[in-house]
Order: sequence, then structure tokens, then C-alpha cells
Amino acid sequence: MATETEEIRGLGHRVKRKEDDRFIRGKGTYIDDIKLPGMLHMAILRSPYAHATITGIDVSKAQAIPGVVAVVTGGLMAQHNLAWMPTLSGDTQAVLATDKVRFQGQEVAAVIAEDLYTAKDALELIMVEYDPIEPIVTPQRAMEPSAPVIRTDKEGQDSNHIYHWESGDKEATDRAFAGADKVVALDTFYPRSHPAPVETCGCVADINPATGQATIYMTSQAPHAIRTVFALVAGLPEENIRIVSPDIGGGFGNKVPVYPGYVVATAASLLLGRPVKWIEDRSENLISTGFARDFHMHGEMALKDDGTMTGLRVSLLADEGAFHADAQPSKFKVGLFHIVTGSYDLPAAHVTADGAYTNKAPGGVAYRCSFRVTEASYLIERLVQNAAYELGMDPADLRLKNFIGKDQFPYTSATGFVYDSGDYHAAMSLALEKVSYPELRKEQEEARARGELVGIGLASFTEVVGAGPHKDYDILGLKMNDGAELRIHPTGKAILKISVQTQGQGHETTFAQIVAEELGIQPEDVKVMHGDTDNTPYGLGTYASRSTPVSGAATAMVARRVREKAARIAAHLLEVSEEDVEFSKGKFSVKGAPDKVVTIQDAAFAAYTNFPDGMEPGLEGVYYYDPPNLTFPFGTYAVVVEVDPDTGVWKVRRMVAVDDCGVRINPMIVEGQIHGGLCEGFGIAAMEQITFDENGNCIGANFTDYLLPTAWETPRFELGETVTPSPHHPIGAKGVGESATVGSPAAFVNAVIDALWPLGVRNIDMPLTSAKVWEAIQAAGGSTST
Ligand code: CDP
Repeated sequence: MATETEEIRGLGHRVKRKEDDRFIRGKGTYIDDIKLPGMLHMAILRSPYAHATITGIDVSKAQAIPGVVAVVTGGLMAQHNLAWMPTLSGDTQAVLATDKVRFQGQEVAAVIAEDLYTAKDALELIMVEYDPIEPIVTPQRAMEPSAPVIRTDKEGQDSNHIYHWESGDKEATDRAFAGADKVVALDTFYPRSHPAPVETCGCVADINPATGQATIYMTSQAPHAIRTVFALVAGLPEENIRIVSPDIGGGFGNKVPVYPGYVVATAASLLLGRPVKWIEDRSENLISTGFARDFHMHGEMALKDDGTMTGLRVSLLADEGAFHADAQPSKFKVGLFHIVTGSYDLPAAHVTADGAYTNKAPGGVAYRCSFRVTEASYLIERLVQNAAYELGMDPADLRLKNFIGKDQFPYTSATGFVYDSGDYHAAMSLALEKVSYPELRKEQEEARARGELVGIGLASFTEVVGAGPHKDYDILGLKMNDGAELRIHPTGKAILKISVQTQGQGHETTFAQIVAEELGIQPEDVKVMHGDTDNTPYGLGTYASRSTPVSGAATAMVARRVREKAARIAAHLLEVSEEDVEFSKGKFSVKGAPDKVVTIQDAAFAAYTNFPDGMEPGLEGVYYYDPPNLTFPFGTYAVVVEVDPDTGVWKVRRMVAVDDCGVRINPMIVEGQIHGGLCEGFGIAAMEQITFDENGNCIGANFTDYLLPTAWETPRFELGETVTPSPHHPIGAKGVGESATVGSPAAFVNAVIDALWPLGVRNIDMPLTSAKVWEAIQAAGGSTST
């Protein structure tokens, strides 16, 4: 209970993460820690080909191994109408292949055995006959009329084209370009990358044959939505499905989709009447589960000679893989890509997007990103830098000239989004000050005179998070709202149940701090529960930095609802009318008589022991929040690099990151989120890429080929903050979980291009490996070394 002097550790307090006690001691519970009596193990046979017809499968030898309980094929799944499943984009995806395989690593069969070793051994004995077909490894080839059709299973699908989508005003944009003094263009590719969480995907499916109760322990970022999807796909009664997502070892978008492994393990448990565990290994995770990005983009900006931006035109081609499985709101085919106008007051914009099937794993997940906003942010920030140089302007000046002014909010963008609040000039000014920008440019000139390659890169990103308002946002028809349920016990301790799913973000701490702020109960007295659909309110889960904007708002609102009732109880205890009671930091007092005090804990006790006649006893509530608008965090990142012209190796000398995520609940956790995001942004800019050879073999299927930055190569980050509250969020918070991953890749690339610009280098596609940088220097004739 709060003492007289103890400060309530609500908003703005650097409360240590409650969850770390168990994580640091190795006492977390991940899926592989779950062991049930009688549990079987499942291993999946995957296709060695990227594109082939299946002409035969013989499982007899595998089935004969002692310890093998069942071998599941697409044929068996088809008998139960489960050979195909819907994707989050409303397409279909093979659970186990029946007709063809469409990417290397696709699920072909599964072995269920008494132990994992037996299951894996048995995989070797499944004989599959394949008849190879030309693999399609680029979306450009996929769109050619001569390309073989990948989705021969879909009636009426006679090409590999999936969708064409447009946004903005074409005519106004054409007019802007016709009247432009200068048009700057950029072709760029945002490569396929992978969220690569520490814990891979997996599940333990436990269906009780006697009761029909299906309990599925699953690495899911969206357990409630998964429950509904399972009910719809498998025809199980929803009240009998319980999805439990315990501690999750990172998700980053990878754990949003439903994967075939979940479906096969569940079907196997249903058929065998025993629990079935499936855990993918690292290579399976990298080659077959939700990739991110893979956008080929063309951008053009229209400008006046004085640097005023007048129009933006963008076209893109998305490589969606073999099944269109993007997790995007139904209304927006390419998610939130169309906030590609970024932080700029651009009067006209037009965006076109096409998606193509290729022989690669499906995905397009929101890897620490709100639905493709990362690609948008990257494109505009690369384009703005090149525009500045082509106009002979400083890139900071061009940005400052064109930023949306802080008095222009709420601001409607050229593609129709209402930005809630921002002060882009303030964030950039602080970043420039922290990095000593004018001095830095002078030093750069001196370094250039000495023949050294020093680059300064800026990126001013505008993010869009908190999906979303029910009129525009849904996944498979489910509106993107979230809930919070709060129960205050008689002793004044509380339990908060939230619909969103923490994967390391610290919700158990920050959401308790929101309750602390609203009710004055210390965060350590508020237990936060999540990840169990039987015991938490409905919601669409955690991805795209939506937890704080949506479920965080629900938490503040339910706490206020509970506070209103507590005030009525306090009035009863104080023997005054409700209007005479005021509340501050956990205490109700009588207006004008501050000494007469009832604490929230007193009110909670009275809710069960001494409540007024006619009042419903107890102190609890539930709230579902439908956000009135998206919310727009922002910031400016500045990077200084030096490039070795003889080797192409580039090193980060400084990295300054100024973020504005509105009111910060826990500044320490926010900084941790930013550090993590910057690290990922650096990895994507410098080294991460899932690529494929001409036969569709995935290169990057392990951590020696798919490089993640370690502490060794990750630069030091210097952070700064501005605070522009969201006007519509109950506590003024915006999201922060993804901002740095969204905003920072362009800053790193801009810095390297800035270093190489005088040599004539205009673009290098990520990842900027030293080999690619060296080749670009050579191609520009900038170095005589070989
Ligand atoms: O949806 P996700 O949790 O990934 O992202 P988020 O809502 O941006 O939150 C990431 C973490 O930062 C959570 O623990 C938030 O509560 C915390 N946060 C904060 O302390 N203050 C903010 N203004 C935004 C987020």
C-alpha cells in the first residue's frame, strides 16, 4: 500500500522491468519448455525444389520405423478438408503440398513420433517424386507473359499478377510534375529480410478427445485472432479453443501469421488424441516463415528551383512469394505504404502498387513496422537526400523547408491520412545540434580535401501506428480494437488483463504504470496478465506498435472507469456527496478539507466490505478501445560514417537518434526499444538479406549466411527526445516499438551515399556490404586501388 511519502511510479518513471526477474534467472516459459504427459513430437519434410510437380509420395518406409505414430501427407489433410488454409490477405496457402511445391522449404509431409529424433530420422525415408518446373525468383520475371503460372491451383489465375492498387490523386500529381522546375528520380530495392526472433515458431497442440477442449500453446503475437481463425478454419467451437502464448522470445512480425506447422500439429492431436509438439529449427524459420519487405520501388519527386516540393510519384512491385500472406488491413493492399509522403507538406502524390507471385516463401509481415511503412519511409528519405544534392542544397535545409509545420496539425496528407500531431522542425533541430551539424560539414570538407571519404546521413521519419479505427482497419474482417480488464482486490492490489501480447516489450511493467498513474496503485501491486485467450479480453494482438496506442488506451480508460466507482465509495466513506470528492495520486479527499482522506486501497476494501446500499459490490471493469485515429510518432536520425575506399568497409563514427513518441510511460523501456530498433536498422542497412540463386535455393538459411549484427559491429547510439503528445490518446502516448527500425536504415545508407556522392555514386541497394560499396566506388572510377 502507498505510504504518505512514497511517490507513485506512474508515467515518466524508469521502473525496472518486472519480467526481467524471471528472464534473467532463466525462469521464463517458452513453448519448448512446455512438456505434457503423453506428448508426441512432430517434424516437417520440406521441399528441396522451388517449383515442381509432385508425382508421387511413398511413406511406407517412414511409417514402419518403431516410434513413428503417424505420417501426415497433403492427401490425408485433404480428406479432412485441411490441405489448404486461408492467409491473412484472403488468399489460400497449402498446408501440406498436394499438387505442386511452390518454394524451397515448403511443407510436404509431417512425421509424428514418440520423440523428435525418431521423427527427424523418419523424414529421410519419405520418398517424394518431383518433376521440376522453371523457378521464378524475381517479380519482374513473374510478370512476363512467358513465365509459368505458379498458382495453377486457383481458378481464373492465368498469370502471376496478384493485385494492382492505387492511392492519391493522379491528375493533380501529373499537373505538379508538368509544372516542376526539377524532377528527381530514384530506383531502389528494399531487400527481403527476416525478423529472426531468438525463439523460433512452434506450438504444442493438446486436444482432449473426451471433452473436445483444444488447448494450443503457440508462439503467437495475436492469440485471440488466431483462436477465431482456428474456429473458422477447423470448424471447432470457439469456446473450446484456448490459445496460450506464454513468454515469447521475440516476434517482430514473424509470429503473426498462422503457419502450416500449427495446423498440422493441431490436426494430428485431434486425430491421435495426444498432445503434439512442433518446434521449427533455425533454418526452417529463415526459409519458410514470414519474411519482410522485398519491394522494388521507383520514386519521382517534383520540385521548384528553390527547393519547394510540389509532387511525389511512386510505383512499386512487391515480391509476395508463392502465397499472398501479407498481414495487412483489408482496405490497404500495401498496408500503410501510402504515407510515403513522410514528414513533408507535399500537395500532390500518387502511388501505384502491383504484387506478384514468385517461388519464394510467403510473408510480407510487419517486421517491426506498421504494414509496409518501413519501405515507404526508406524511399522518401533516400529520394529527399538525392533531391537535395541535385538541387545543390543541404539535405537538412531541404527538409526544414518542406516539413509540415507544427501549427498545420491535424494535417491531411496528399494520400488522405490525418496526421494527429508533430513538430518535425524541433526533432531535426535537436538532432542537428547534438551532432554539431555545421562543424561536422566543415570537418567533412577538410576530410574530403585530404582524400578521405566521410559521409553524413539524415533521415526524418514519420511513422504511423496504432491500427486502428474500426471504419478503416480490420484483419480478415476482425476490427482492430483491443481490450483491458482491471480487477482491484479487497487489499488494494490489482490484476490487469490485456488483449495484447508481449514478446519482450515490457508490457507487464508499462501497463502497470498506466494503472499506477490513473489509480495511484504502485506498479509492483498491479499484476499484468496476457497471452491466454480464456483469461484475457479480446483483441487483435501486438505488432505494428499498436499495443500502447490501442490496449494502453483501453487500460487508461478502464482505470478511469474503476476510479469513478471508487470515488462513489470514497464519498460514502467520507460521508459527503460525490461532487465534493476530488482525487489525486491514489487519494480521495474532500474539497476544501484536504485532511479528510480515503486511499484507493481503503475504497477497494470497502467495495467488498462496506459499500453503500444499492451499489453493486466489487471494484472492476473492462474496456474495449476503438482508436479515433492512427497516431504518428516521428524523429530525426543522423549518422556519420567513414568509408575505406580501398576495401569498401564503412564504419559508423556517430549515430544520433531523436525520437518523439508522445508522452513516455517508461523512458528506460522506450530507450531500450529505440536501441533495439536502431540495431535492427543497422543490420538491415549493413548485412541482412534473404536472397535466392537462379534455381530458387534460399541463400541466407542460417546465421552464418544471414548475418545479424552482434555487439561487436553495432555502433554506439546517442539518444535525444522531444515530446509532442497525441491529442486523442488518453495519456498522450504514441507507439515507439518500431520507429527506429523504420527510420534508421535510410540514415545509414544516406550517410554512405553522402560519402560517395562526389565520386558519382547515386545509389547502392541494401545491404551495403563492403563488397558492394567497393564495387560502386570502382564503377564510379573513384579509386585506383584493386
Ligand atoms: O506494440 P508494441 O508493444 O510492440 O509497441 P509499443 O506500443 O510502441 O510499446 C513498446 C514498449 O514501449 C511498451 O512496453 C510500451 O508500453 C513502451 N512505451 C512507452 O513506455 N511509452 C510510449 N510513449 C510508447 C511505448
